[in-house]
Amino acid sequence: MEKIEKMATSGNEELKPVLITDPEEMRRRLNELRKEGKTVGLVPTMGALHYGHLSLAIAAKNETDVSVVSIFVNPTQFAPGEDFDKYPRTLDADLELLSQLGIDFVFAPSASAMYPAGFDASVHIGGVAKILEGECRPTHFDGVATVVLKLFNIVGPNIAYFGQKDFQQVAVVKKMVADLNVPVEIDMRPIIREKSGLAMSSRNEYLSAEERGQALVLSKALEKAEELIRSGVRDVSALYDEMKRVIETAPSAKIDYIYVADPDSLEEMERVAGNVVILLAVRVGATRLIDNRIVEPQR
Ligand code: PAF
Repeated sequence: MEKIEKMATSGNEELKPVLITDPEEMRRRLNELRKEGKTVGLVPTMGALHYGHLSLAIAAKNETDVSVVSIFVNPTQFAPGEDFDKYPRTLDADLELLSQLGIDFVFAPSASAMYPAGFDASVHIGGVAKILEGECRPTHFDGVATVVLKLFNIVGPNIAYFGQKDFQQVAVVKKMVADLNVPVEIDMRPIIREKSGLAMSSRNEYLSAEERGQALVLSKALEKAEELIRSGVRDVSALYDEMKRVIETAPSAKIDYIYVADPDSLEEMERVAGNVVILLAVRVGATRLIDNRIVEPQR
């Protein structure tokens, strides 16, 4: 995190990314570069960039010839009544941060460029998209899969970078890529946390100072679970009870789910056997936060 902070604020000589809003122009520009044998890395985002996003952009920059960050607050992944209108939009500040990193292109289309009048297609993912976030937000992952497939088709990345913070989203994208034979490598990068332990998220902006303090129960509960697994606890209901106890120390926190699963299949476990991912969704006041941790008991 300190390294990322340094890169983003080092006053590097700024290399402004080329800002493109038209999907066809984006495709054309990248086709030309691909013809020269260049590889392309894509970081799909909804903007309001924080160090979590920047860690992905740095990976794209370091590992591919042409780095592209897309910034698009995708309406189809928000249900009516969710925070689409209120979602932070900070394009100028985002461009400034990406300039510091030397990102090549920012693709920031309008909603009408992505979903012109008459648009009538959707990618539907079953199984892994139906549990957890999919249960709380039933239309969410079809919206994510649809826009991510469109971005893949427009940008044609060799590698696409996603944050572990949205662990289930990465599982859904991987499933889409596998089932629909999309020729892209999906690279999931670790969660970037504030010094306090709070996982970085654009939605943290909604928290008051008081709620920010209370939101620390998510990372503390995950830490506690890891500690218990390392000390030999294998019974998932014992982990669940301890995590619940930690979360309930915050008066404004309300648990949506605590889920312990196989990290590959996302199948729920009753006993810890091998690596696990522990996923949490908790409302802190009016803000819904998610967090997770992968635990390798044998390490
Ligand atoms: O994680 C996000 O910011 C979004 O869900 C994504 C992947 C950019 C699709 O809109």
